[in-house]
Amino acid sequence: MTKPVILTGIRANNDLTIGNYFGAILPMIDMANQKSEAYQINMFIPDLHSFTTPVDHTLLYEQILHNARLFVAAGLPLDNDDIHLYRQSYIPAHSELTWILDCFTGFGEMSRMTQFKDKSGTLGAERTSMGLFNYPVLMAADILLYNAKYVPVGDDQSQHIEFTRGIGERMNNRFGDIFTLPESVAKQHEFFGKDQGLRIKDLVDPTKKMSKSDELGKGVIFLGDDPAVAAKKIMSATTDDKAEIHYDKENQPGITNLLEILALLRGKDLQQTIGEFEGQTQYGEFKKTVAGEVEQFLTNFQAQLASVDNAAILAKLESSEQLLSGTANATLLRAQQAVGLRPEGK
Ligand code: TRP
Repeated sequence: MTKPVILTGIRANNDLTIGNYFGAILPMIDMANQKSEAYQINMFIPDLHSFTTPVDHTLLYEQILHNARLFVAAGLPLDNDDIHLYRQSYIPAHSELTWILDCFTGFGEMSRMTQFKDKSGTLGAERTSMGLFNYPVLMAADILLYNAKYVPVGDDQSQHIEFTRGIGERMNNRFGDIFTLPESVAKQHEFFGKDQGLRIKDLVDPTKKMSKSDELGKGVIFLGDDPAVAAKKIMSATTDDKAEIHYDKENQPGITNLLEILALLRGKDLQQTIGEFEGQTQYGEFKKTVAGEVEQFLTNFQAQLASVDNAAILAKLESSEQLLSGTANATLLRAQQAVGLRPEGK
């Protein structure tokens, strides 16, 4: 009955973008559908992580359910018993294991985490919470609780995976086998195939990633955008003055980004899309094509989203949460016993 576990979490503190959709959600759902015969798939919403940076708390609860709906609209099946969908905060073992791991984690090691340094640098010391600092430890708990072997994440999370292996191993060395360690990042890359390096870029500044935390949103297409407004964003995307379409990340990042977006929207091979437009001189016409596809895609996706069965999603969340509490509590108990909080034995 015990299959190896693939586990991944997607944050839900903002409306997601087409970059998230094509770069993370779709690939993850494809992976879940393909691998669920041989693996147990744990997909979860790290809701406790979602306010490590400021959010609107009056919207958070709905936002979390909304994101679950997005996954379903994107093709996540609710009737596959090997694919679980759950919310982190509904399984209290995440918080409890985090505290235990905290007490075996060095302040220095956490201070050197790249993502922490970046984000706390932007926020400033007074607005940087203990939660942001502690974020990787909670993430380690997320992974270790379920004995996860593979954890597909973006490159920005690799350091946290290595930390998870480190803390798990340290605890195991000191106390005996408590945790199953996830595979190294290198092995994970091997398993999932190399990252296509597909990162949709911002439409206004095509040298940076399209990010859901962009405040103005002019360079970002959200899945919830009015399709006509999204089309306008494409029409005013930054390009260049070369007046000839080439796939050239270095010198024509805006045009290149639009070619990538178009290929993804059409679900077609990038080379084919490039072949179709390469050398053309009418940026306006090209943009109109992309804008039309964006409009069509959002119209279809939003219709799909509207038809999602909310009661079925809630039922799925609740049944996964109940089932997986069993696994999580068993791991937590091993850790509690190891550190002397519970008696050894059964
Ligand atoms: N930190 C991840 C992100 O920002 C989300 C996350 C939280 C996660 N816990 C996790 C991913 C555990 C994988 C495994 O994208």
